[in-house]
Amino acid sequence: MKLTDKTMLITGASSGIGEAVALRASKDKCTVILSARDEEKLNKVKEEVEKNGSKAIVIPADVTKHEDIKNLFLEATRENRVLDVVFNNAGLGFIGNIWELTAEEIQTMVNVNALGMILVTKYASEVMVRQKHGHIIMTSSLAGLISLPQWAVYAATKWAITGFADSIHFELKPHNINVTTLHPGAVKTDFFAKDKANIDVKDMGDAVDAEEVADAVYQAIFTNTQKILIPKMAKNYALIYRFLPKVVQKLIEKQAKDIEYHTNVEEDEPEFSYIKCVKCDSN
Ligand SMILES: NC(=O)c1ccc[n+]([C@@H]2O[C@H](COP(=O)([O-])OP(=O)(O)OC[C@H]3O[C@@H](n4cnc5c(N)ncnc54)[C@H](OP(=O)(O)O)[C@@H]3O)[C@@H](O)[C@H]2O)c1
Repeated sequence: MKLTDKTMLITGASSGIGEAVALRASKDKCTVILSARDEEKLNKVKEEVEKNGSKAIVIPADVTKHEDIKNLFLEATRENRVLDVVFNNAGLGFIGNIWELTAEEIQTMVNVNALGMILVTKYASEVMVRQKHGHIIMTSSLAGLISLPQWAVYAATKWAITGFADSIHFELKPHNINVTTLHPGAVKTDFFAKDKANIDVKDMGDAVDAEEVADAVYQAIFTNTQKILIPKMAKNYALIYRFLPKVVQKLIEKQAKDIEYHTNVEEDEPEFSYIKCVKCDSN
């Protein structure tokens, strides 16, 4: 099973899962089109891809900017290049109770994870419907199947992608286009960095390496799997959650207590400091 002489466009290719998928594909002499905002990081990934003897093309794009996405697909399909696989993966998460997240953090998550991903799929579909061929893989999350505390907005964006993918599956199938959603549990990447989710990966229990996820994505291209759940534990959780949600909810409540999330409510919303606690004696 190889992607030799095929082309894969990857968003979120500057690090983590996107980078790992690019490197996996490069072992097969697959042309990879690398996209994200950070051009310097993308060029480093390009170097690694080329070391494996594959071709890499860097096209920087911010998926919150419609013009960038349009330009990405115009550049990617130059000289009638066929896009065999689009790995639509760019995303990020700011984690915290809903009242602690800033409006900007909420908007960024919705714009990158939901709107950006939907627009990338729109353009990927436009290309692939004309080609009468293709495979679109979208990175949702285990949080796009199971609801978690402190992840509400992130989960909302990922559930949006789960539903979106299930719908376009019907639309694209007659055009010979496959649709897959990727639902990873915790993966050891920059996702958890201080300026993003801000969680110590060691608190994430069974976090897997990005390379393991890349292997699963790669397999799914050949088996045309509709949903990739990784690790195996994620598959079990999702199944039990579907039929016995309370069992999983209890487990989540127990685990969530041990994780420290960031809080910025006082710094970011000082104008609400006049609000007093209704039930506190000191009022
Ligand atoms: N790590 C996990 O535990 C985990 C679990 C489930 C799902 N996921 C999902 O997996 C995907 C990849 O995340 P990762 O774990 O590999 O984290 P990562 O290493 O932080 O990678 C995120 C990628 O998204 C790109 N990105 C962020 N904002 C962007 C924007 N506005 N425009 C274009 N690209 C943007 C980043 O590149 P630039 O900063 O250079 O733009 C980077 O390449 C995300 O969709 C995430 O939600 C991750």
